[in-house]
Amino acid sequence: MVEHSRPVLPKLSALTVDWPLRQEKLFPHSQPLIVEIGFGNGDYLLHLARTRPDHNIIGLEISSQSLAKAEAKIEKSGLPNVRPIHCRAETGLWHLLQPQSAREFHINYPDPWFKKRHGRRRLIQRATVDLLTSRLEVGGRLLLATDIQAYAEMAHDILSSAPGLQNEYDAPWLHEVAGRFPTKYEEKGIREGRRGHFFRYRRDDIPVAHPPVIKEFDMPHVILRTPRTAPEIVARFSPMKQSVDGAHIAILQAWLDSKLMVALFEVVVEEPSISQHTMIMLAPRAGDGEWIVKQTTIGHARSTLGMHRAVAAVGEWVASLDGAGEVLARRLRA
Ligand SMILES: C[S@@+](CC[C@H](N)C(=O)[O-])C[C@H]1O[C@@H](n2cnc3c(N)ncnc32)[C@H](O)[C@@H]1O
Repeated sequence: MVEHSRPVLPKLSALTVDWPLRQEKLFPHSQPLIVEIGFGNGDYLLHLARTRPDHNIIGLEISSQSLAKAEAKIEKSGLPNVRPIHCRAETGLWHLLQPQSAREFHINYPDPWFKKRHGRRRLIQRATVDLLTSRLEVGGRLLLATDIQAYAEMAHDILSSAPGLQNEYDAPWLHEVAGRFPTKYEEKGIREGRRGHFFRYRRDDIPVAHPPVIKEFDMPHVILRTPRTAPEIVARFSPMKQSVDGAHIAILQAWLDSKLMVALFEVVVEEPSISQHTMIMLAPRAGDGEWIVKQTTIGHARSTLGMHRAVAAVGEWVASLDGAGEVLARRLRA
């Protein structure tokens, strides 16, 4: 007997999906969107998909281990209305989700190691809440759970003063919500004597800022002339760091591909909305002593402003190595 297995769903990541996300490419039906951030083992995500078949459900998760587990469960479930994406929440909010495109956000037990001094990395902070609000439809909801009293107090301060959000409870939070599906982390907390603090806010019709989705630019390159050879350029390399326009760029190593006579530079580009780790290539061009420095697609790098700055930094450094070096042309964002 021939066994018919379901086609394997392509794995999704913030670096491989469209910016902004195109729901019609992910789901068979156009339906209101629910987003879970930090779905952990994926059971709550699946619960949403099962109990809300008239919605499309997207999960954003930074842990690749959690992602793999949830992908396997979703594959097995055969549910058509749920897709997990390997993605930092902030990247999803800036690059994937259009203003007023989500009906609900569910965030369960973010930042379990809450320390006030870890503010920059914390999920619930004013700037991220403003972005969540902008991505919600009017009438949409933001649901948050935490079992850390200090985190709940901090979240209450931020949410209750956020323009565009109204608390739906008569108290800052509730400790019991009828019909709630407990997450894995929640059950562990209950076993260890901790209580959930549950928040539920509604997006009202007060106008708020709607920062547009950050899209990609053209792939950056720099064309330059230098009499230096690729081995000489690689030999002169030492690691570089620079911060420009909010992007932190580290050019870590250079290698020579002696067969192709190209040089590869390993770069890490950290921007507020996205972190990328990829290679920039220096390759010879037809003209005498002419070279092109360009972004590669290694690691599915996307052509963000930070990536343009990184290509500019490598191109300018190579041109500066020799008195006769000069930049001839650039495809770079100003
Ligand atoms: C304490 S666990 C809770 C998991 C699950 N929600 C539960 O309640 O069982 C926090 C989860 O959020 C994920 N996470 C943390 N920060 C994140 C971010 N900025 N974007 C996406 N996921 C994040 C972590 O990888 C982890 O899976």
